[in-house]
Amino acid sequence: MNKTLLMLAAISLCTTVVSESYRIGIIGTGYVGLVSGACLAQLGHSITCCDIDKNKIEMLENGHVPIYEPGLAELIKENRLKNNLHFSSNVKSCIKNNSILILAVNTPSKENGEANLSALYSAIHTIINHINEHKTIIIKSTVPIGTNKKINEKILSSGLLQSEFDLVSNPEFLREGTAVHDFMHPDRIVIGVSSDQAANTMEKLYSKFLPETPLIMTNVTTSETIKYASNTFLALKITFINELANLCDITGAKTSVVAQAMGLDQRISPYFLKPGPGFGGSCFPKDSQALAFTAQEINSPMLTVQALLQANEIQKNIPIKKLKKAIGEDLKNKKIAVLGLAFKANTDDIRYSPAINVINQLIAEGALVQTYDPEAMKNMRLLFPDIEYKNSSYEALENADAAIILTDWQEFKNLKIEKMAKIMTSKVIIDCRNILNIDALTSAEFQYQTIGQGSSRSTRNCSYYYFCPDSYANAYR
Ligand code: UGA
Repeated sequence: MNKTLLMLAAISLCTTVVSESYRIGIIGTGYVGLVSGACLAQLGHSITCCDIDKNKIEMLENGHVPIYEPGLAELIKENRLKNNLHFSSNVKSCIKNNSILILAVNTPSKENGEANLSALYSAIHTIINHINEHKTIIIKSTVPIGTNKKINEKILSSGLLQSEFDLVSNPEFLREGTAVHDFMHPDRIVIGVSSDQAANTMEKLYSKFLPETPLIMTNVTTSETIKYASNTFLALKITFINELANLCDITGAKTSVVAQAMGLDQRISPYFLKPGPGFGGSCFPKDSQALAFTAQEINSPMLTVQALLQANEIQKNIPIKKLKKAIGEDLKNKKIAVLGLAFKANTDDIRYSPAINVINQLIAEGALVQTYDPEAMKNMRLLFPDIEYKNSSYEALENADAAIILTDWQEFKNLKIEKMAKIMTSKVIIDCRNILNIDALTSAEFQYQTIGQGSSRSTRNCSYYYFCPDSYANAYR
């Protein structure tokens, strides 16, 4: 065992890694499992994606992809045709037939913010019971700091020897909506190992990305921490700009210009500085909560993380606050068009979506909700069966007393302001993603609210800026 490897987070730019095709079993076919499976198959490995959910596997075998993720269906089809990608609900044989196992099961939050690891431990239990040769067990699920060590102890306490398995931490940094691209073009690969053998296997697994992509080979605890630190830091960045936007709303400064100027400082970077209705999704809320929980538990509280969680909850109330500012406190029987239900564009995922909070508040105040989202209506219907789901943005806007835009789908960016003016009862827009053109809204005599963009037309000398507000949209990833 190499001590340096264990002690240091070494950034290795390996130049001599031999490419090798592996047989890999992936347990868990959610976003991470499915995208990783399809992409690893594309890299030339032979992949079996397994899941205890027989319906999901049947769907996948019949060529249906259970989630909306751009490019994924095509990649799955291509690799099934190449015979590189298989699906199975027989987890036991998946374990027996593959010496490399990737665990990508769900680790949702419990009520108290702690991560729920029952699916992960259940998968580990199945591995312990069916191990038949040396296994490299790769944990891709986001797990609280210290979990890999605990799992290692658990496997050892079952009677297995350390020589019979390697446990590896290999967090994933893909974003929903651009997951395939993110997997295939990683900024970095992070691997936590406890042996040289595991390090070599992992280098070969990702050899197609090397040496161009930085590879961080470190110990398992550091690797787990990198994942939480990255997600929480991004959540902190968003929360900072959201609070700053609220301040700009009062002072009249334009947040987008402030963000551009800040972002030109390379130490800050322009990304994740777009204000909105609060961050959502299955990762930032859950991971920030879990980090705050871990820190509290070991008596090393992270006050910045606690504060960002609190600020994000407050931010989720901003859309209704702005709506009331525009049309008055009484929302009873007001027809409100809600555009965008997914937690962000290019996904059908509604987990922790700001739209849930907004719709709950509208219903509680007696408003009539008419809504549209290009992909997420099916999922939202399960939560809110009684609101009106429309077939297009314009249908949702018809006869509305006000509209709230919550998600930055391209389709909403393309909305024709003049058409909106004709079909709405009152020309009121709460643009929580700052995607509509303020000049066009002003010309069409809309009453509108943004998040930190002020309510004046664009400044005439806008083109003197290094980045104009509009071109800034291109800098957002
Ligand atoms: C996030 C991370 O970005 C990924 O790197 C990570 O792998 C993933 O979590 C995970 O842990 O699995 P994701 O949740 O898919 O990815 O989506 P993001 O693009 O990060 O957006 C998260 C939330 O922040 C969304 O609600 C989005 O609208 C919001 N956001 C993002 C802003 O409000 N402003 C921004 O400037 C950027």
